[in-house]
Amino acid sequence: MPADEPLVLGIETSCDETGVGIVRGSTLLVDAVASSVDEHARFGGVVPEVASRAHLEAMVPTVQRACAQAGVALGDLDAVAVTAGPGLAGALMVGVASAKALALGLGVPLYGVNHLAAHVAVDALEHGPLPEPAVALLVSGGHSSLLRVDDVTAQVEPLGQTLDDAAGEAFDKVARLLGLGFPGGPLVDRAARDGDPAAIAFPRGLSTGRDLARHPYDFSFSGLKTAVARWVEQRRAAGEDVPVADVAASFQEAVVDVLTRKAVAACAEQGVGTLLVGGGVAANSRLRVLAEQRAAAAGVAVRVPRPGLCTDNGAMVAALGSLLLARGRRPSDLDLPADSSLPVTEVLV
Ligand code: KG4
Ligand code: ZN
Repeated sequence: MPADEPLVLGIETSCDETGVGIVRGSTLLVDAVASSVDEHARFGGVVPEVASRAHLEAMVPTVQRACAQAGVALGDLDAVAVTAGPGLAGALMVGVASAKALALGLGVPLYGVNHLAAHVAVDALEHGPLPEPAVALLVSGGHSSLLRVDDVTAQVEPLGQTLDDAAGEAFDKVARLLGLGFPGGPLVDRAARDGDPAAIAFPRGLSTGRDLARHPYDFSFSGLKTAVARWVEQRRAAGEDVPVADVAASFQEAVVDVLTRKAVAACAEQGVGTLLVGGGVAANSRLRVLAEQRAAAAGVAVRVPRPGLCTDNGAMVAALGSLLLARGRRPSDLDLPADSSLPVTEVLV
């Protein structure tokens, strides 16, 4: 790692993770994360006010821990990057205000970046520069997007997105229905291992006929969620046991079938040879297997960062900040706003 490469600190507070990452060039030095997920568990979902408060409490200790673990002083930093959106408004504000204070105090440039582009940029820390153009499938509790990435620092176009629930949200709701707990994704994933993915034919949203023609790259999971709820309720009403493993496996198959089918079709139709999968749901074991299989059959290479880099973290923001600095992009102004609905086309605010 050349010591003359710029040292960039990234801050992520768009949801329930207070993430602080530090990179030197494209080398990850530290990825410190403080999560408030336990505080949300009893509500079965992230409570925005609780998340904002937790960010306030965690910010300074997490920055200090990151610097200590990386063996750097704040004064060594060459730039500060922060998620400016999209995300929870109050939560974003904590990160943006903290990043401004750091950048102003240290006299270094500030980059307010797009959370989705950061999910894409993080992969370079693990697998080297991302071949561009690439297609990115970003699936988490808050977003489900298919993107065309021609330049992760400047040119990102949405191909499709969910019209209702995010993929991770569907996992969380089905887990709740099955009494598995929160967050539901990993629990459904585990329960599904003992189940038959073909046991129950759950619907695949926007996957046939006119729906598919009108929404080739969009997703819809609310019909699936309702179908699972109805199936389970009918069983319970009849006094029968619910086969949790089979329901979990069949539901999971319906989600990842649609995600991988549309992502690989996008690559083929766009003439793109690389598919990047990111976001918390990218940790799903069946999604990884099916994405690999279908992409291989289409001659597409799949890149999936390790699970810790797929979920929200500060390293992804630092990675994008470092790329922006390297490609000479103009830093953000100090009156940078937090924008809860920042469009994906706006990589740098
Ligand atoms: O990226 P992330 O940490 O935060 C958001 O931006 O939402 O993603 C969290 C989401 C949750 O909905 C969680 O249930 C889901 O990712 N998730 C999974 C798995 N691990 C986490 N979903 C399916 N399978 C998994 N193994
Ligand atoms: Zn995310």
